[in-house]
Amino acid sequence: MSSSSSTSPLAAFPAHRPRRLRRDDFSRRLVREHSLTANDLIYPVFVLDADSAHQPVASMPGVSRMGRAELFATAERCLDLGVPVLALFPVIDAALKTPDGAEALNPDGLVPRTVRELKSRFPELGIMTDVALDPFTSHGQDGLLDDTGYILNDETVAVLTRQALVQAEAGVDIVAPSDMMDGRIGAIRAALESQGLVHTRIMAYSAKYASAFYGPFRDAVGSAGNLGKANKKVYQMDPGNSDEALREVALDIAEGADMVMVKPGMPYLDIVRRVKDAFRVPTFAYQVSGEYAMIQAAAQNGWLDREATMMESLLAFKRAGADGVLSYFALDAAALLKA
Ligand code: PBG
Repeated sequence: MSSSSSTSPLAAFPAHRPRRLRRDDFSRRLVREHSLTANDLIYPVFVLDADSAHQPVASMPGVSRMGRAELFATAERCLDLGVPVLALFPVIDAALKTPDGAEALNPDGLVPRTVRELKSRFPELGIMTDVALDPFTSHGQDGLLDDTGYILNDETVAVLTRQALVQAEAGVDIVAPSDMMDGRIGAIRAALESQGLVHTRIMAYSAKYASAFYGPFRDAVGSAGNLGKANKKVYQMDPGNSDEALREVALDIAEGADMVMVKPGMPYLDIVRRVKDAFRVPTFAYQVSGEYAMIQAAAQNGWLDREATMMESLLAFKRAGADGVLSYFALDAAALLKA
């Protein structure tokens, strides 16, 4: 045998038996490289403008649109379980939806009102709001359209900037632009600074793909019907691209993002890893509605173990380099971690 055999992993047997460390729970725990804690979780909720409403979302079993009473109970549960942030997604009355999504700028609209109520009742709970027009537009797109139906960039950024200011003035802790317009992070950051809103954090949906996995979310916020057969490919990223995600993240960091996000999550863990390695900034992933629906559906059929799959899927985000995960499983996972 040549001397190169000493570098072959096979030649190392039996000196190296990787299974030794896997034999007992204590040594598995001792050498575990990554772990999940409640601190890593952000819980997204669908908010209705009502006191005691509770509407299950058919395509997301276990998830409901909720009125104020349930929302406040949910906020309390986040605090009990140590989940740091609640992310609000409004379900806007169809009668308030317009082509320009003007309701997004109403300082007494559902989102700013809810932010004020939550921050006064639960000041220590982090609150995050979505900056995008799709819950407010009659066409279900995230921005303004020109005559041909193309989503205008700079005109949309001007509106999103005002939307972010309304949310920040209501006291939200984190604004999260999910629209994928060019230049919106810089415009929002400049506007926040100019108003003295220097503490408002920006979590940028930096690498957000035009994904089929958002389907159940669009049912939940009621934009699916408005969007119809249209898609978001002229602003959200092409699922075939990876280098482009790094360019998007670089722009958002340069424009003033405090945290960046990759979305969807599980099918895009390669992007999470590349972003973390390249930039070393706080990096988040969104385990989106369709990912949640898949796990729930399989579990309901008895095809997957719900708890084990949920925990493994969340841990996988940490291993891929994410600092945290937005997940509809956040409360259930935090409860298991506490048990
Ligand atoms: C829209 C928005 C979407 C999600 C979060 N913000 C849907 C979309 O872009 O069409 C999806 C979240 C999910 O699927 O859980 N601005």
